[in-house]
Amino acid sequence: MTDVTTPTDQAVDETAGEPAPTDAAPAAARHRARFHPLTVAAVERLTDDAVAVTFEIPDELLEEYRFEPGQHLTVRAMIQGQEVRQSYSICQSRGAAGMEHLRRVAVARVPEGRMSTFLNDVVAPGDVLDVMTPLGSFTCPTRPDGIRHHVAIAAGSGITPVIALLTTALEEEPGSRATLLFGNRRTSSIMFLEELEDLKNRFPGRFQLITVLSREAQDVELFHGRLDRERLEAIFGALVPVDQVDEWYLCGPFGMVTGAEELLLERGVDPGHVHHEIFHVDDGTAPKRPVVVDTGAPPEATVTINLDGRTTVIPMPSRDETILDATLRVRPDAPYSCTGGVCGTCRARVVAGEVRMDRNYALEPEEVAAGIVLACQSHPVTDAVSLDYDA
Ligand code: FES
Repeated sequence: MTDVTTPTDQAVDETAGEPAPTDAAPAAARHRARFHPLTVAAVERLTDDAVAVTFEIPDELLEEYRFEPGQHLTVRAMIQGQEVRQSYSICQSRGAAGMEHLRRVAVARVPEGRMSTFLNDVVAPGDVLDVMTPLGSFTCPTRPDGIRHHVAIAAGSGITPVIALLTTALEEEPGSRATLLFGNRRTSSIMFLEELEDLKNRFPGRFQLITVLSREAQDVELFHGRLDRERLEAIFGALVPVDQVDEWYLCGPFGMVTGAEELLLERGVDPGHVHHEIFHVDDGTAPKRPVVVDTGAPPEATVTINLDGRTTVIPMPSRDETILDATLRVRPDAPYSCTGGVCGTCRARVVAGEVRMDRNYALEPEEVAAGIVLACQSHPVTDAVSLDYDA
């Protein structure tokens, strides 16, 4: 296991002992993602293997839990004696009626998934869980006077951010329309089927739902199978002319998202209009090897972090461990969730020195160009590195 628990007396907290940031703290520090205990208002069963969990947001936290459609919340809980964190997309539109004080996420059960099993089987209304404020860059600003065609390609639980994005676009852009290509195994496993049918009624002529099932016969052969390249090409040719689409949203397993993105770019779509989020990464790269470090060894590099208005200097005995792992030894408040380069929760800006990332499925090229990195994937290249989580 990566050694992330042994405290080291070599780290220096340059503001240790100072009071926690208050309203006088810099705006960026105030808005950094942080956990708050939230009460579960409802747990609704969506399918045999998925629930929607709704949290109550008290008045004083409304501003912190304001969100952009497509963003996610990270839930933290102690399960069988271990802290577990997992991110779940917010599945409500920005202006959903009666939801101002509520945030709803959808949780599909994952085999062996401790958090998804806990939320599906154990959690009940009235329980209190730690929930991080919203994060994520799978977003697209709406334009009230826009006349656009928004098209989403989603599979399985990839619907969760997409339903928020498309519903918000339909509600906030009266001149726009939306199409959803939605892949599932069978009808009984489709999350939000009723809500999607309702969207067709609420926005007649403006919302088109194309359901593709891999393990259930369909009247139309085109809609039976997986949302692979061949099927997407056929659907584009028959129903969704690519050159008449303004914004694309891709969400689901790695292969589906990368396959669809490749196809769109080959068709000449501007990458700036292709928004994507990956739920499971299987890119063939070797899994991250656990790194055990001797915290008493001379440092190979030194990392200085600014987090929540406090600066901490952290010696790193090995450049092989990630900056996040080194940071957590002394700053357990550092934000993270997936530790796999997918969710973006651990993002920070490099303000001095140079780092390299193992992989990145969360940041856009322009964010990387601006010096944003994922701490869970970053290793120092230079002897001294400074990261600002508040920037
Ligand atoms: S913790 Fe998810 S990308 Fe780093």
